[in-house]
Amino acid sequence: METKILPIDSRSLQLAEKLLSEGKLVAFPTETVYGLGADARNDEAVKLIYATKGRPSDNPLIVHVDKDYDIAQLVTDIPEYAKLLAKAFLPGPLTMVYKSRGVVSPVVSCGLDTLAVRVPSHKGAQQFLKFVGMPVAAPSANLSKHVSPVTAQHVYSDLGGRIELILDGGKCSGGIESTVLDCTGSVPCVLRSGLVTRDMIARVAGECDEYHMVEGERVRSPGMKYKHYSPRCATVLYDYAHREEAFKAYKNCLAEGRRTYMLCDSGVAEQFGVRYVLELGRSENEIAANLYDKLREGERLADIIIAVAPEKQDGVMVGVMNRLSKACG
Ligand code: TXA
Ligand code: MG
Repeated sequence: METKILPIDSRSLQLAEKLLSEGKLVAFPTETVYGLGADARNDEAVKLIYATKGRPSDNPLIVHVDKDYDIAQLVTDIPEYAKLLAKAFLPGPLTMVYKSRGVVSPVVSCGLDTLAVRVPSHKGAQQFLKFVGMPVAAPSANLSKHVSPVTAQHVYSDLGGRIELILDGGKCSGGIESTVLDCTGSVPCVLRSGLVTRDMIARVAGECDEYHMVEGERVRSPGMKYKHYSPRCATVLYDYAHREEAFKAYKNCLAEGRRTYMLCDSGVAEQFGVRYVLELGRSENEIAANLYDKLREGERLADIIIAVAPEKQDGVMVGVMNRLSKACG
């Protein structure tokens, strides 16, 4: 099958709507990463997402809606704190998990009685969701276990020939997937960290828990148990305190004739004058925005990526570290 990459305009939106209504898939941009969308009400279409990505069938999907969509159609038991959070952070990179009304296909949540809902802020995502007017189930638009896509080209390199349409909305500005927040309890609980941090949530909701996987317990967010985000080359991760050792390892690998790149922030790149560098930038937001793009660049160029963790470990860097250690662990 031929995969079209089209800018978002009335023609491509009409095609997107047609494909979704036929039970087919459409990739679209968001402010975090690109999504691989299907009509969330159509069992077969949602199953096609799993087949196309090679995604484990017990890892539930997020439903995406436009900002004027009344989510009470999809979910129930919305607590007061969630209303405050929605007001503060939506549209934006925060996915909220509620009790489901069972309106969308049960395949979306893999039989769980909850539903994850996201209202992306990306202009093209809003245009797309408004135009198609249906809840769109979408995981990140990469092959399962690979690095998430932040450009239409990334989507094409994973899914070209497997889907008919990629809506091109440029490079995603956020760069890591949305924060997933469980809103079914009396206190909100972060299941996956992202750009909306636990502190930001606690400031609005009064308090916020963070879920940590416990060996032997049933996982609350099934996505957490899978290996994710891996570039297709060798990787090693050093913490910031051991950056000197990372640079030594980099030189040793180069001396062995291996194509070696260091993945690090601009400060570390400058400190050592790293020549073969996948430079993440300086600010927290730059580092998050560049992470997946640089991992994908790295796997194209390098036999081995030697990564140095950012110095800061809180806030947005919690989400970055979580991805980096899964990618390079
Ligand atoms: O930024 C994002 O969230 C991107 C864009 C495309 O919106 N999407 C994304 O989807 O990252 P995906 O499928 O790669 O990750 C969805 C995460 C998984 O960790 C999954 O386990 C969790 O959300 N999740 C989905 N439904 C859930 C539910 N009902 N309860 C708990 N966790 C859920
Ligand atoms: Mg994903």
